[in-house]
Amino acid sequence: MIIEPRMRGFICLTAHPDGCEQNVKNQIEYIKSKGVINGAKKVLVIGASTGFGLASRISSAFGSNASTIGVFFEKPPSEGKTASPGWYNSAAFEKEAHKAGLYAKSINGDAFSDEVKKQVIDMIKADLGQIDLVIYSLASPVRMDPKTGVLHRSTLKPIGDKFTNKTVDFHSGKVSEISIEPAQGDDIENTVKVMGGEDWSMWMDALKAENLLAEGATTVAYSYIGPSLTEAVYRKGTIGRAKDHLEATAFTITDSLADIKGKAYVSVNKALVTQASSAIPVIPLYISLLYKIMKEEGIHEGCIEQIQRLYADRLFSGKEIATDDKGRIRIDDWEMRPDVQEKIAKLWQEATTENLAEIGDLDGYRSDFHNLFGFGFNGVDYKAEANEMVAVESI
Ligand SMILES: NC(=O)c1ccc[n+]([C@@H]2O[C@H](COP(=O)([O-])OP(=O)(O)OC[C@H]3O[C@@H](n4cnc5c(N)ncnc54)[C@H](O)[C@@H]3O)[C@@H](O)[C@H]2O)c1
Repeated sequence: MIIEPRMRGFICLTAHPDGCEQNVKNQIEYIKSKGVINGAKKVLVIGASTGFGLASRISSAFGSNASTIGVFFEKPPSEGKTASPGWYNSAAFEKEAHKAGLYAKSINGDAFSDEVKKQVIDMIKADLGQIDLVIYSLASPVRMDPKTGVLHRSTLKPIGDKFTNKTVDFHSGKVSEISIEPAQGDDIENTVKVMGGEDWSMWMDALKAENLLAEGATTVAYSYIGPSLTEAVYRKGTIGRAKDHLEATAFTITDSLADIKGKAYVSVNKALVTQASSAIPVIPLYISLLYKIMKEEGIHEGCIEQIQRLYADRLFSGKEIATDDKGRIRIDDWEMRPDVQEKIAKLWQEATTENLAEIGDLDGYRSDFHNLFGFGFNGVDYKAEANEMVAVESI
């Protein structure tokens, strides 16, 4: 079939298998170009199909020759209907990994469930014995608590007061004011349930109970902080409470891994266009200004550059891992540079529908958004027939 983008708000209903493959190949080439990373060899990535999780899986496999198990929740294709992009990304990743002689298997299912944890445990027992790095990179709007059966929904709301600020519809470029009502009722608890650290802990407990974590195993989850401009809706909002919980969980996991000398870290990553971040109001305007400034300064990074730097300069540099006063690894350091943030704060005041394309990087935002779904890549013939029925080799 000929596959074209069909945009609906902050999602695209179609994905291009060849474009997703090109995206994965580009990331693999980047990692190879940066040389060997002396990193973990047996890696489990939870949330492995898109964004930071996919970049982590690629960095481990093609930077450190690691065996990887990837867990994700994606929609497979059916005749005439494309899969979700993470499916095609994972198909392309496995194909390239297998070609390179690397072990790579995937599990498509709900990572919050006991069943998927059990499947992963059985796979590790059968194939790898023990794991030495667990990357936790889930971004989900809902989570079913496996113990209670209750379905929790996360929200992206301010806490306390209504929040009013500028935002942009990145398709049309229209800058407008948006007001978001504050959290009510169980909004905070529910968001912490979904995006906090409880499930991360459950994964680590389950792996440890089965003796599947190697001596000195490391686990890393991803967080975000961002500037004061977005803090009402992000870091001081419901999602920020979940990130506080996730960050606190790193310490309890480290305690529970003491006997195997294991360690849990949170890495604070840069704001980037992913399926998760496009859904957050205000953030797309911030990102389009951020991209403009960071590109001008020559310090712009995508997910793969971020994770390559996390691995090479922090986690596996051979030196002591630098953290901030809250124990977090900071690879949002370039985003948070005072000169970068000062420029954004000034542009924020000036931004209008008329000038955003010029003072911000709206084109860069849109292009990244199209790329998420496999569109807009050089070397892909989008007018040609594409086969939507692509399989993930191990599934
Ligand atoms: N995008 C950003 O700007 C940004 C910045 C800093 C930190 N982060 C954090 O990085 C992490 C990953 O976010 P992302 O932006 O890469 O998101 P993403 O949407 O690109 O990826 C989410 C991944 O989670 C998987 N997933 C979702 N629900 C699942 C479920 N129930 N079971 C199994 N897999 C499931 C998806 O399949 C996908 O692999 C999040 O914790 C996010 O807060 C994101």
